[in-house]
Amino acid sequence: MNIEQLKQLAKRRGFFWQSDEIYGGLSGFYVYGHLGLLLKHKWENVWRKYFLSLDENFFEIETPDIMSEDVFKASGHVESFVDPICICSRCKNVERADQLLEDVLGENFEGKSPEELLKLIKKHNIKCPKCGGSLKEAGELNMMFPLTVGVGQLSKAYLRPETAQGAYVNFRQIFEIMRRKLPLGLAIIGKAFRNEISPRQLLLRTREFSQAELQIFFDPQTINQHKRWDEIKNYRLIISTAKSKKIVKMKSDDVVKKCNLPKMYVYYMARVQEFYLNILKIPENKFRFKELSEEEKAFYNKYHWDIELKFNSTGKFSEIAGIHYRTSHDLERHEKASGVKQTISIDKKKFIPHVIELSFGVDRNIFALLDFSFRETRNQIIMSFPPALSPIDVAVFPLVNRDRLPEKASEIYRHINKTFVSFYDSSGSIGRRYARQDEIGTPFCVTIDRQTLEDNTVTLRDRDTTVQIRIKVDDIEKTINDIIDGKIMFRKAGKVVYEPKD
Ligand code: GLY
Repeated sequence: MNIEQLKQLAKRRGFFWQSDEIYGGLSGFYVYGHLGLLLKHKWENVWRKYFLSLDENFFEIETPDIMSEDVFKASGHVESFVDPICICSRCKNVERADQLLEDVLGENFEGKSPEELLKLIKKHNIKCPKCGGSLKEAGELNMMFPLTVGVGQLSKAYLRPETAQGAYVNFRQIFEIMRRKLPLGLAIIGKAFRNEISPRQLLLRTREFSQAELQIFFDPQTINQHKRWDEIKNYRLIISTAKSKKIVKMKSDDVVKKCNLPKMYVYYMARVQEFYLNILKIPENKFRFKELSEEEKAFYNKYHWDIELKFNSTGKFSEIAGIHYRTSHDLERHEKASGVKQTISIDKKKFIPHVIELSFGVDRNIFALLDFSFRETRNQIIMSFPPALSPIDVAVFPLVNRDRLPEKASEIYRHINKTFVSFYDSSGSIGRRYARQDEIGTPFCVTIDRQTLEDNTVTLRDRDTTVQIRIKVDDIEKTINDIIDGKIMFRKAGKVVYEPKD
């Protein structure tokens, strides 16, 4: 499978496509169709449920996409949120220098200075990819989208480049409301905007995107502990350090010692890995934590490990999330710039809380789900989403369009649609209807046949095996929920009435 096949499927079946296509498309912006948005909502809900239940003092908030220039001057983004660029002396095409080198040489050059990058461009005789002209260094470009707000007396502002600042500038207020307890976790799921110089690889690098970020505020003196450490101390993390770059599996306890990381940080690494392997069902050999070198780290981070997945469509590891120890960088700078105290007092101890940030690119995760679910089998595409994440949970069909079967099927559809995202389809042959659902990843199909009118039972079909079982109408919801939750195997949930030949 390649990225072009994924792009075609995404557009043909309505997952996502480029925005403003009728005018030739706006690079780096995407539309989510009906199925793509259902998938995104599923991912966000699974993320919420998992990460907000890690601690009783973790909550979700919503803050605006537009924030004042003051916020980003204080955070350091106005000064430091920049990318190195080079410009073609002939056609004036602008390229992101480190990415151009990566495209040509296949290595990562993030974090190198514009001068170093230009030297490498010259050394490898890399030319403008548009016209073949020679490239010259043009310094650095800030990636934020500036705005003016209001009329008359205008205020300078930016579209936020990360949701995180919304949590930092509201920390003090929420800390008071939530009765002054640490650790305090503030999650935001929302849009962020970056004026990427070279948007690319569909949803992997866009200019408008969604983030799901959890900021965990804590007392810095507690960083070497976590109350649930014992649950994960023997859990084996899949890591690649900046020094060795080899992928190895190492117990959490050993990661603390060998990588010199605090227990609190490693605890969240383990929880994030569990999320990917157990909930999103990413194969172990496609997952790694990658430590960023000093020069690759974001300017606000002391420790910075990315979560990378090896995509089937590109054959390469790409970043889809990160775990960042931001120290007191943001709160300290906001205290200084705003004059509003971020220093708190707990048990007579005064300090500015430190932050570990779990940061996820939602669209990148959606792209990963599409990539890892894509199968070509039975002479067609089957999207094998984990059942809890499929855009549509259940499709309901009358076997034929006569003999009162459509009426009975509609009645059952209306009922189960209250519990599951359901889809009713009565057009075309039953085989064609199954195939259409397989292609969009619907894990279960319920078919109403003549026997249904006699004994109130239906067939339930499994997407991946095509096996069908017979179950009672009254048991549909419970059976599906039990299968999704892993409480029962599909074949054991009813009488097997269809089995494929091979
Ligand atoms: N908030 C961290 C990031 O946007 O990568």
